[in-house]
Amino acid sequence: LDNGLARTPPMGWMSWTAFYCEIDCVKHPTGCINEQLYKDMTDRLAEDGYLEAGYHSVHIDDCWSEMERDSNGVLVANKTRFPSGMKALAKYMHDKGINFGIYEDYGTKTCGGYPGSYQHLKTDAETFAAWDVDYLKLDGCNINLDLMPIGYPEMGRELNKTGRPIIYSCSWPAYLVDQPQKVDYNLIGKWCNTWRNFDDINSSWKSIQSIINYYDHNQDKHIPTHGPGKWHDPDMLVIGNPGITVDMSLAQMTIWCIWAAPLIMSNDLRIIGKEFRDILLNKEAIRINQDRMGIMGRLVANTTDIGLYVKPLSSESPEVSLSFAIAILNRNLSTPKSVQFHLKHLGLTNQFGYRVREIWSGKDYGRKMPHDEVEIRVNPTSAALFRADPLAGNEPRFEKKPEMP
Ligand code: GLA
Ligand code: GLA
Repeated sequence: LDNGLARTPPMGWMSWTAFYCEIDCVKHPTGCINEQLYKDMTDRLAEDGYLEAGYHSVHIDDCWSEMERDSNGVLVANKTRFPSGMKALAKYMHDKGINFGIYEDYGTKTCGGYPGSYQHLKTDAETFAAWDVDYLKLDGCNINLDLMPIGYPEMGRELNKTGRPIIYSCSWPAYLVDQPQKVDYNLIGKWCNTWRNFDDINSSWKSIQSIINYYDHNQDKHIPTHGPGKWHDPDMLVIGNPGITVDMSLAQMTIWCIWAAPLIMSNDLRIIGKEFRDILLNKEAIRINQDRMGIMGRLVANTTDIGLYVKPLSSESPEVSLSFAIAILNRNLSTPKSVQFHLKHLGLTNQFGYRVREIWSGKDYGRKMPHDEVEIRVNPTSAALFRADPLAGNEPRFEKKPEMP
């Protein structure tokens, strides 16, 4: 969506995969969907380095509203759990430099059974603008799938009419996984800044792996329709949650960065371990993710265990060839794997070579020529992430579509 927003992949924190629809604040005082949870996460983003690293929004997910609209048909935040109301919560975030994201659903009800926006799109767009919302995730439960190409653009027009810049995330294609012939990413990208297109993530390797497989298999559809203002969203980062090891965290962060995917965490930032926080805050990984060209990396070599991805990165000077990120994923569940590759086989042909570094280990490989071999050992369910910067030369710039083997 060409509305000037989300020119790089959105970064923030969202409640769903860590806190789901927990509304019992008596039993779970620090783990339920209430204003304190979002204030706590706002504080953590602002004070623990996340905001500085680029994570600049906090997103409410489902289960925030009353079970009924008010007598004017306007949505109301749950009065017990959000006693100060949404506008005050937005102000709390904005005062700390954090954007405010909210959740609704195009259907008659949200996935959790709360009032949906169907037949209320205009009112709801105006309500969100009046609450100073900066980002809307519009889900797609409880609606006839044939209405989606009508309703998602309609909400987009209503948001636009409010005059408030609001990033628009559409779950539209996520409900058409079984009917891929109905998914037109060019159309979706005209109306939405970002969109979910596959199953919900959960805090397990199985889930991360299934999302990666889905994206691998569909990359020829995804890559050309991904870029500034229009991002495929493989769903939240689950780094820091029980069930996710350091290696799995490296794998998820690596692949989400090489894809230029939104980096929206769902975890408990009040208790997250330092080893996980360091992965989420890694500046070099984030720099790859946020590269201004916004190109989704491509799986260029694949064996049973190993996936090798390449992503072109913008170069500082137009006279110089592009930089590249290279990711190596080891899907094997128990065995570390040694991987060797030649830069030229990945499309890295700069005649003066590249300075090659691996980001997670910090290892500097020095100058590597296109025909040189690079070798690395990758743990099971983990990944390596390289950056290769071209060394001086005058060879022609890389044109829009790289030739990849
Ligand atoms: C759907 C979405 C999730 C979450 C829930 C809320 O499943 O895909 O991300 O928003 O609804 O009910
Ligand atoms: C190979 C791998 C699978 C999966 C697909 C994706 O078949 O073995 O695990 O990643 O590629 O293309």
